[in-house]
Amino acid sequence: MDLRGCRIAGVGSYVPEEVLTNADLEKIVDTSDEWIVSHTGIRERRVIPDDQNTSDLAAEASRRALDDAGVQADQVQLIIAATVTSDTVFPGTSAILEHKLGAKRAATFDLVTGCTGFVDGIVTGAQFIQTGAYDRVLVVAAEALTRITNWTDRSTCVLFGDGAGAAVLEPTDPGAGLLGYAMDTQGFAGEHLCIPSSGSAWPPDEKAIAEHATKLYMNGHEIFKMAVRGVPYIARKAMKNAGITEEDVDWVVMHQANQRILDAAADRLHIAPEKVISNLERYGNTSAASMGIALDELYRDGRLQNGQHVLMVGFGAGFCLAGAVIRWDK
Ligand code: UT7
Repeated sequence: MDLRGCRIAGVGSYVPEEVLTNADLEKIVDTSDEWIVSHTGIRERRVIPDDQNTSDLAAEASRRALDDAGVQADQVQLIIAATVTSDTVFPGTSAILEHKLGAKRAATFDLVTGCTGFVDGIVTGAQFIQTGAYDRVLVVAAEALTRITNWTDRSTCVLFGDGAGAAVLEPTDPGAGLLGYAMDTQGFAGEHLCIPSSGSAWPPDEKAIAEHATKLYMNGHEIFKMAVRGVPYIARKAMKNAGITEEDVDWVVMHQANQRILDAAADRLHIAPEKVISNLERYGNTSAASMGIALDELYRDGRLQNGQHVLMVGFGAGFCLAGAVIRWDK
């Protein structure tokens, strides 16, 4: 079967207005602006208001992406939502979003792959576009991480923020758009980044609440090591599958977890640091949403030009890795 190409026809992102600065966090836990900036690069993050949920962030980012693509909501055939902070475990965020957007013709499903979610969503959606099954797929990655943050744990509560990023996928010529990808999971490390009491293994109970086990737990040190090793590995596989080398890369849109991880990846991949997009100073780690937000900003401020190669690299809970190369074609 001859496969079609799959391009990103529109992008959009949204972050809530409320800003939580490092100075604000100094009043909550024993931390300092100096420690947070020097260990992570983060200066502030956004917080979802009480009267909104993840699907509201997803809806706003989606509307902006649909607008950018010139696509009406009722023309969307499939919605893929990537999130670890779904409004409810079920129905999934994608189904809630279908209703909020008025995407009446769309099928929906969620991906729960943590911080790799935006890349996973694009790669998954591309399968439907490339085979000819669908012509318009909406991928949205959205997180309300402040809802699952343990505000008594200084090693994690300074890291996370809320936001959403979206992309509309459409067919294009083979050889444009998504050129190649690679994915991998190292499931043995799942315990290092999880919500211990969030499902059938340990249904939330009083003990779980008392121990903050219904909130995000992370062994930052282990995840840091896995990310620094895993990012060059999956990036090189994605580039090989796409038929390009490091020299062909114009931009790296990587999961925004820690400036030190971004710097280490640039160094190990021999890619100039100025090509590696960083916005975590303003938003912190927004898990699945981070690459969607970064890609949207890169496009909207005019840096991303048609024909350029974007290398996307995600890493996170699972432990999951995902890389993709896109030749920008908008
Ligand atoms: O999005 C999914 C993927 N996530 C990631 O990629 C995160 C990966 N991990 C990281 O980015 C880093 O491991 C962290 C930023 C989470 C932590 O940085 P670190 O340099 O690995 O610090 P550490 O955990 O080794 O802690 C060093 C010290 C400890 O004190 P002692 O034991 O040396 O006295 C911590 O207690 O820093 C202390 N510490 C803090 N101090 C002030 C930890 N958190 C804080 C804090 N403020 N917020």
